[in-house]
Amino acid sequence: MKILVFEKEEYLDAYVGEYICHFIRNHSQPVIGFATGSTPLGVYRYFIDNYQAQKVSFRQVKAFNLDEYVGLTPSHPRSFASAMKNELFSHIDILPENINALDGSKEDMIQECQRYESLIDANPIDIQILGIGMDGHIAYNEPGSPLDGACHVVDLHQESIESSLDYGFDHIEDVPTQGVTQGIGTIMKAKQLIMMAKGEKKADLVKRMIYGEVTSDFPSSIIQRHPNVIVCLDRSAASQL
Ligand code: GLP
Repeated sequence: MKILVFEKEEYLDAYVGEYICHFIRNHSQPVIGFATGSTPLGVYRYFIDNYQAQKVSFRQVKAFNLDEYVGLTPSHPRSFASAMKNELFSHIDILPENINALDGSKEDMIQECQRYESLIDANPIDIQILGIGMDGHIAYNEPGSPLDGACHVVDLHQESIESSLDYGFDHIEDVPTQGVTQGIGTIMKAKQLIMMAKGEKKADLVKRMIYGEVTSDFPSSIIQRHPNVIVCLDRSAASQL
């Protein structure tokens, strides 16, 4: 595991942004896994700036989103599919047919999970961007999720429901109580993971993720077992290391 600590958030964003742009420029069909949440937004701005400056093109990129709310259509303004569109995809030249996501509004969610897992197997993810949730989750793998799990529906923990208020929901009652997510096993199939964390509130979590026991009680600890992972932290997120 490589751990990088950056003096300023913008340096972290530029490092991860340029790392992935470099990869995209040098591969004919790059497959990138995208995360929602506030942490990667600076990286997405870096992508947009570099696309606008004609320093990178996303035309050959295949994208896979990590997770979604159950019960929201992809076009719902609070869906993670909409968030990715608004924050990144609608501002770059990625082809719509290359954007892949779990659809939380499907009648048969088991079938939807199997469809997505097979699609990822057919298009192995080269670089997966990850953040860490306030209960240690990755994607929407809440504590207790199997470490080798495939895509599945989850009951969101209260902490995750409350954190969703940061993503534009006006009332807690509006937040879906279930999510659908790439499993920990799905995430571990990516060839490389880039885990990002920022801010004091993530410092304890980062310490446990890197040095704690690898356990399904703290899903992000699984990254210790991945052969190719870069953890990118700002100073405050690294303050407990
Ligand atoms: C959310 C998402 C995750 C995200 C994490 C951290 O609930 N399901 O994919 O990585 O929690 O979010 P943030 O970056 O806003 O702290």
